[in-house]
Amino acid sequence: MKILVIGGGGREHALVWKFKSDNTKHKIFCAPGNPGIKALAECVTIQANKIQELADFAETNRIDLTVVGPEDPLSLGIVDVFEKRNLSIFGPNLESARLEGSKAYAKKVMERFNVPTASYLEHDDYQQALNYVNEIGTPIVIKADGLAAGKGVTVAETIEQAEAALKAAMLDKVFGDSGTKVVIEECLFGEEMTVLAFVDGETVLPMVPSQDHKPVFDDDRGPNTGGMGAYSPVPHLEKWLPEIERRILRPVAQGLAAEGKPYSGILYAGLMLTGNGPIVIEFNVRFGDPEAQVILPRLENDLAEVMLAVVEKRLHEIDLSWKPGASVCVIAAAPGYPGPPTKGLPITLPQSFTGNTQIFHAGTALSNEQLVTNGGRVFGVTAQGADIAEARKHSYGLMEEISFEGKHFRTDIAAKALNL
Ligand code: AMP
Ligand code: GLY
Repeated sequence: MKILVIGGGGREHALVWKFKSDNTKHKIFCAPGNPGIKALAECVTIQANKIQELADFAETNRIDLTVVGPEDPLSLGIVDVFEKRNLSIFGPNLESARLEGSKAYAKKVMERFNVPTASYLEHDDYQQALNYVNEIGTPIVIKADGLAAGKGVTVAETIEQAEAALKAAMLDKVFGDSGTKVVIEECLFGEEMTVLAFVDGETVLPMVPSQDHKPVFDDDRGPNTGGMGAYSPVPHLEKWLPEIERRILRPVAQGLAAEGKPYSGILYAGLMLTGNGPIVIEFNVRFGDPEAQVILPRLENDLAEVMLAVVEKRLHEIDLSWKPGASVCVIAAAPGYPGPPTKGLPITLPQSFTGNTQIFHAGTALSNEQLVTNGGRVFGVTAQGADIAEARKHSYGLMEEISFEGKHFRTDIAAKALNL
């Protein structure tokens, strides 16, 4: 099969790696890809948001399946453009992608289908937003309405922090137009878990759960990032899965289908497991990153077959099966991240590494044949093992063999599952 993967981060490296592990005969292209992906696929120099150019490429090269990694092209309507041209593409259309692209839109969907979520108010006036925060008090959560690369959320412990977040989003426009409107939300307490599902309109096939680690420092301290590491399974929280499927995933898929807006692709539920059960923090409309890096190595099915079944609305024919054991991913980040990272730092990688470990490239580039840092999250250092403790040991072992100046990573990935 000829497959085009769009994007160039750790998630896309994991997707390409999975397609290639399923079937070495697949011919894989990746736009734009990265130096790690280059070893497995032909990288094409088209940026992920150049929709018409990507569609031209898919048509000219007779691509059988296009898979979109990041949210931006989905929110720009890449699926609608491909479908209009009869090109096979996996992902939600423009309307469905609003579930991630607008937090206010997602809230309204959840209200309509009675999906548990934090109470909230939207504001587009700075002074009114500030008055509201003063009235409710802290802790309180401030969210830029639009896309902000995982950085648009502030959990404010003090009024000063809340005020700074409102000012940054609404007055200083650090997220551009994404922060013109904010959602101010009740602060939830509990442990977080991610559940992704394949959805083809009516049929919902949940994947194994995983847990991300958003704050940059150990013990969940410091500012939020796109994710500093993940693991799967999440044994101490899996008792919630039936309820998550029944109260969250199915009502959203079936509700949207009944409204004539069937959802197709991956539905990502970011959840807080509170004393009152699972509550949705956010929906995303694609694989999570780093979540994809731990889930895909556990999937036994041929991924392209599952994705084609979604595109062709016959997901009911598929049963997902998962490798036993566990998978752990630890992100190696560049100095400065989640602020502006230092680019161009030379990287040394181990010559070889064995079996159940992968170094997924994210923010890397080649400069005169030298691998250098080129983004905040540089690698996803991933390993599988018989259990979480073993996978974790391999992942941290491999992390020691990667060097670049100022490398930082969390040392407590998966600690919650191990009671460390
Ligand atoms: P999001 O980008 O919506 O996933 O939010 C990023 C992170 O902010 C989440 O992973 C949570 O850790 C935190 N967060 C978001 N909403 C809330 C909330 N209502 N209560 C507590 N923490 C939250
Ligand atoms: N790891 C969180 C996300 O992909 O949105």
